[in-house]
Amino acid sequence: MTPTPRPPSLLARPEPAPVGSAKPAVLEVVGLTAGYGDLAAVRDVSLAVGRGEIVALFGANGAGKTTTLLATVGAIDRMAGEVRWHGRATTQKVHQLARAGLAFVPDERSIISGLSVLDNLRIGRGAVGAALELFPELQPLLGVNAGLLSGGQQQMLTLGRALAGLPDALVVDELSLGLAPLVVERLLQVLRTAADERGVGVLLVEQQAHRALTVADRWYLLANGRMAAEGGGGEAGLGALRTAFAATIDRVRT
Ligand SMILES: Nc1ncnc2c1ncn2[C@@H]1O[C@H](COP(=O)(O)OP(=O)(O)O)[C@@H](O)[C@H]1O
Ligand SMILES: [Mg+2]
Repeated sequence: MTPTPRPPSLLARPEPAPVGSAKPAVLEVVGLTAGYGDLAAVRDVSLAVGRGEIVALFGANGAGKTTTLLATVGAIDRMAGEVRWHGRATTQKVHQLARAGLAFVPDERSIISGLSVLDNLRIGRGAVGAALELFPELQPLLGVNAGLLSGGQQQMLTLGRALAGLPDALVVDELSLGLAPLVVERLLQVLRTAADERGVGVLLVEQQAHRALTVADRWYLLANGRMAAEGGGGEAGLGALRTAFAATIDRVRT
């Protein structure tokens, strides 16, 4: 993708100096093995997310998507392999990486019910106004207890708060679980805009592959804890994903 001109925005900030290539990887995982106790749930997983790129991670239930994300953002320990942040190997944990600009949105929505929408936005890393610029829908809800929001509104709050912190990369698990199609499309479009206008690198787990691939640049497919295939976005990418996914199922059956 060619760099797009950036319109002035509350979200704007100075561009970092270009690092060698046109689209350097902001986040890389190399040979990752991780799991629970002594048991590896994912083995030898490698992936990369470039600046301004949306990368989807697909796989059946239990394939290892969440484990991969958790180990990537430093929320669980790695058994082997490396995570590179802006090209440098890092052993930082999730909170340190968050301060360094790696935002993580886990599959359980991390809003605090009992606090208002405004207070939930205030505990984020970014300006409340920046979150509202992304999701003006939240403006009339600022005084509302966040626990009373719909699932879609809660996810807007979570994503708005994460992106308002001006992360260089955003890792999102189960973006749209249980949400209505229109909301999912809205969330995906906001991710695309953040990638295009701010150069945010997005790593996304999303069940609805056909929707994810309307905005994703590339995808990876996990099967049984290993990287099984990768491909590009759009209709062609969706076709390739279907073929690759069918192949992993056949492999399990035979
Ligand atoms: N907290 C946990 N303790 C033990 N095993 C787990 C835990 N979480 C996930 N697993 C196992 O790790 C494997 C991968 O799970 P997960 O990464 O959650 O897959 P996905 O997100 O693709 O559905 C599965 O076999 C799952 O049962
Ligand atoms: Mg999961």
